Amino acid sequence: MKIAVIGVGNVGGTLGPAWAKAGHEIIYGVHDPGSEKVQTLLVNSGQNARAAGVAEAAAGADIVIFATPWLATQDAVRTAGTLEGKIVVDCTNPIAPDLKGLSIGTTISAGEQVAQWAPGARVVKAFNTTGSGNMTNPHYESQTVTMLICGDDDEANKTVAQLSNDVGFDTCITGPLYHARYFEPMAMLWVDMAYLQGRGPDFAYKILKR
Ligand SMILES: NC(=O)c1ccc[n+]([C@@H]2O[C@H](COP(=O)([O-])OP(=O)(O)OC[C@H]3O[C@@H](n4cnc5c(N)ncnc54)[C@H](OP(=O)(O)O)[C@@H]3O)[C@@H](O)[C@H]2O)c1
Repeated sequence: MKIAVIGVGNVGGTLGPAWAKAGHEIIYGVHDPGSEKVQTLLVNSGQNARAAGVAEAAAGADIVIFATPWLATQDAVRTAGTLEGKIVVDCTNPIAPDLKGLSIGTTISAGEQVAQWAPGARVVKAFNTTGSGNMTNPHYESQTVTMLICGDDDEANKTVAQLSNDVGFDTCITGPLYHARYFEPMAMLWVDMAYLQGRGPDFAYKILKR
């Protein structure tokens, strides 16, 4: 698949190379394609990746991933241009700057907000409920980290589930996009436990099934 990755920090800079190595065509949408950081990312990603401006990257892709700080996400979506018909993956968490809570929630979510900013896009919430270290390595001895996915379009959910499987996650499609209202507090709990309670980032959520 042709995937634009907008935001190449902890999350985009981990998922992009993993997908490039799995055979997907990656276009990083960045402010400065010539920067040292982006050039290093391209080397780490191999031959299936290139970098472009945000609008060019999004226009050339079937799937557009937003892995941007929450406060920059509206700007990133606007800069991406029309996303109608594309699969848009929202990885963001609307975490307050001091890590002391979510800035929106309960009756709305970042995922639903992104859907409002990108009319006609098939928005999927994914890759937000665990830390980027668990994206680099989702395996704990005999267990595999669960990645929760939700969205209103079944085909888009299945496509993003495959991308999650490609990274190595045990993937669970939970239901419609409003489930992002529940995913984002789960992410906040993970962040609080990891960084405010001092547990560190080497733990993850796992769904057990009978
Ligand atoms: N860190 C995690 O473990 C983790 C896990 C799950 C979800 N999340 C969520 O995922 C999102 C990204 O987190 P992160 O830790 O990867 O962030 P990060 O390391 O700070 O990286 C953010 C990236 O977004 C880019 N960016 C900023 N403003 C932009 C704009 N207006 N248009 C396009 N790109 C822009 C930055 O580019 P410049 O450097 O050029 O500004 C940078 O490449 C956040 O919403 C976070 O809550 C994070």
